[in-house]
Amino acid sequence: MNLQDFAKLLRSRWITVGVTMVVAVLGAVAVTLLTTPLYQASTRLFVSTTAGSSLSDVYQGNRFSQERVVSYAELLTGETLAQRTIDKLGLGMSAKALKENIKATAKPDTVLIDVAVLDESPVRARDIANTLADEFVVMVRELETPEDGTPPDARVVVEQRASIPDRPVIPKVARNIAAGVALGLLLGVGLAVLRDRFDNTVKDGKTFEEITGVGLVGSIPLDKERRKEAAISFGSENSGIAEAFRKLRTNLQFLAVDNPPRLIVVTSSMPGEGKSTTAINISLALAEADHNVVLVDGDMRRPMLHKYLDLVGSAGFSTVLSGAASLSEVLQKTRFPGLTVLTSGTVPPNPSELLGSLAAQKVLGEMRAQFDYVIVDSSPLLAVTDAAILAANSDGVLIMARFKQTKREQLAHAIGNLQDVGAALLGAVFTMTPTRGHASYNYSYSYYGDDNARRQPPNPARPSGEVTQPAGGRRRAAE
Ligand SMILES: Nc1ncnc2c1ncn2[C@@H]1O[C@H](COP(=O)(O)OP(=O)(O)O)[C@@H](O)[C@H]1O
Ligand SMILES: [Mg+2]
Repeated sequence: MNLQDFAKLLRSRWITVGVTMVVAVLGAVAVTLLTTPLYQASTRLFVSTTAGSSLSDVYQGNRFSQERVVSYAELLTGETLAQRTIDKLGLGMSAKALKENIKATAKPDTVLIDVAVLDESPVRARDIANTLADEFVVMVRELETPEDGTPPDARVVVEQRASIPDRPVIPKVARNIAAGVALGLLLGVGLAVLRDRFDNTVKDGKTFEEITGVGLVGSIPLDKERRKEAAISFGSENSGIAEAFRKLRTNLQFLAVDNPPRLIVVTSSMPGEGKSTTAINISLALAEADHNVVLVDGDMRRPMLHKYLDLVGSAGFSTVLSGAASLSEVLQKTRFPGLTVLTSGTVPPNPSELLGSLAAQKVLGEMRAQFDYVIVDSSPLLAVTDAAILAANSDGVLIMARFKQTKREQLAHAIGNLQDVGAALLGAVFTMTPTRGHASYNYSYSYYGDDNARRQPPNPARPSGEVTQPAGGRRRAAE
């Protein structure tokens, strides 16, 4: 994974990273709120020795003090002094517990000792710090006084007394939050990478092309409007999705130029991948370019076209196949110029059988003769054999995958089903691709860059040479 892939990964999984970070920061806030605040009071002690009069005596005395300082720091955090302080103040705690909250630091090369005391109460922190210092002065005097009663060689003076601290030193709010952010970021990125590793959905054109063995001929962006109204009004709309369909239309016209496919089946592996919506809009895009198009609902199990286009659903393909009506009787003109629709008709008990019948081939052939394009919507390939049967009787198939939803195995399985019946794959179409931050998904290859994307395994169902894509074609010429 290079840096660019990593950036792409983070962009596509920013929700994971964001949520992890928010959780971590909330955790840090909770920890901060649950921590008992501790106040710190400090005193400073000065260690002095009886200095001689000569310069060397002064120097010696100074060294003596500095050495003393280190031992004193030890004594300050000892249990004896802690107990004396507790006794003096009448505190209800053990010497061990108090000892834990005392810190003494001897500054190197000085005769100063800083003593810090932590306590839940600011007043008590001050009292302990001051009493501790006073007791230490007494303790040192006792320790340093020689037995013969001569004045001690060293003594300690409380240079600075403690005052009541105004705010707690623990919890450290800023530090905790910063740690939360850092930890959240680390965990979030880790989680994003992990999820990406285990994600086996189709989410880049290269993989899509590798599995299908054909070129990516279209990427239909996610467009919330389509949930309300499946058909795009090409005349008035210049949105990204309309442009994507125009691009797909152009690419379709470049496919197999010697024998242009006119009876095209639109299919995918699973339900809900946008087959019907895409079939409608491919048809509309072709109609916009002055082609005479018929859109056929070949999904006889869950027909949707009549609902999406507000048409009569009771008479259609199955009606013609049963012999109850002629084709011309059930073809419905739509409000879109150039687009005729053959709905599915009432749901028959044996769709696969009907679609595989000679009658079906005949009806499709009739429409092929009558229209410039026959676009057939179908049922999902992994659910039933209907789509494969239709595909076998078509000029070619557009295989669709829903971006980051269709699993690689599902797609591979669907391709296998198509190859089993000898269907001709025309191209791959991504549906519901994200609109932002994924420009590179629209086309897996640029004019000059990304050589790998073009190196697809040949499709056994159809020699790959026949499937040419305009950008790829031009690039090849340039090489
Ligand atoms: N490009 C798109 N942007 C947003 N929603 C879409 C798009 N294409 C399809 N949908 C929605 O996805 C759902 C399934 O679409 P549909 O075309 O019925 O899929 P299929 O025919 O594969 O079952 C529908 O609610 C539809 O409105
Ligand atoms: Mg459908």
